[in-house]
Amino acid sequence: MDIRNDMLRLLKGRRQGFSLEQPFYTDPDYFKLDMELIWYRDWLFIGHDCELPKPGSYITVQVGDYPVVLVRDQHGKINAFHNSCRHRGSRVCNTEKGTAAKLVCPYHQWTYELDGRLLFARQMADGFDKSDFGLKPVACESVGGYIFICLAKEPADFAPMRAMIEPYLLPHRLREAKIAFESTIVEKGNWKLVWENNRECYHCAANHPELCKTFPEAPTVTGVHGADSDPEMVAHWARCEASGLPSKFRIDPAGQYRATRAPLLRDAVSYTMTGKRAVQKNLSDSVSTDRIGSLLLYHYPTTWNHILGDHAVTFRVLPISATETAVTTKWLVHKDAVEGVDYDLAELTHVWTETNDQDRRIVEENAFGILSPAYEPGPYSELHEGGVIQFVEWYASFIGPRLAEGGRPALRSVA
Ligand code: FES
Ligand SMILES: [Fe+2]
Repeated sequence: MDIRNDMLRLLKGRRQGFSLEQPFYTDPDYFKLDMELIWYRDWLFIGHDCELPKPGSYITVQVGDYPVVLVRDQHGKINAFHNSCRHRGSRVCNTEKGTAAKLVCPYHQWTYELDGRLLFARQMADGFDKSDFGLKPVACESVGGYIFICLAKEPADFAPMRAMIEPYLLPHRLREAKIAFESTIVEKGNWKLVWENNRECYHCAANHPELCKTFPEAPTVTGVHGADSDPEMVAHWARCEASGLPSKFRIDPAGQYRATRAPLLRDAVSYTMTGKRAVQKNLSDSVSTDRIGSLLLYHYPTTWNHILGDHAVTFRVLPISATETAVTTKWLVHKDAVEGVDYDLAELTHVWTETNDQDRRIVEENAFGILSPAYEPGPYSELHEGGVIQFVEWYASFIGPRLAEGGRPALRSVA
């Protein structure tokens, strides 16, 4: 059976406004196509500029089959490379993060400059040309403190994304923040179930007692429609924009990324049990108000974000298999904020640690039920699950034409 045609047939035959057929959530061959046609082609959020504080700082990540290393070079620029030695392929950097003067392969010590050039390869034959064996580059862009990579040979133009998102992000000065805490959990569910769950708050009241103390479950906040006819949202945007913070709801024409600023409930300013700030020092020296609510930002397929006055919580989704997804959460605070003085780490992380675990259980139960032979696609609530419908439409609109094209996306060649 031709899996591509099978997948395309199910996409074309699907009922609008309904969840997808079972194999989209469970089948390893469908998962491979998701990886090849979405994950190896689109821009992916990997980490933050502030995680690479100085030349030689690096972080590594595994995207499907591809190990990748992000490193700040001697000129301060952040580069991404395939983390596979040009000698015999060993991983060059084999820890999650670190600092190195040069990137030295642990196998035979081929040594690379921080910009990827091969500097040193012991006792190779005469005529060996080091310039042919630099680390293979991966497209890499940084915007407002977020680092994105793209594994495609010809990445989509990043400029429109930068133009839309950057004004929202810059006032928060995340490049100068620091990571107060990070956690990675593995959810036993397909990456699309993780997203579907994220894109609605229909489930919040019954599942998220901590988050619901401060976060509004209104579909005008979580969805993609109706925010501009919600007087509370419109008043919030006006207030925030008057203080210099871009806030209105914006979404790109393809529906891949969105930004909007939403008020929190009542007089809450942060995701804490009391609604009071978790960090005494503002996240940004240039954002003075506490009443800015949360900047909600998502970019399919890797990230959703909440940026508050006192801290930011950022999320990265990475698929592991058809039925496992890693979700990494990072709590960012002002770089000079001191744990135990300006914030209590347990208080800072409590609400989203609980919420993440609740969402993990929800996703796992959803995945479990979908495995039933009795499963069939069910209808989304138009009122509450407009965001989910939009996510599924985005997915279908991206993968459908790529399935129809055929072929396998090529990797970037060595520069
Ligand atoms: S595989 Fe890297 S030096 Fe041999
Ligand atoms: Fe949730």
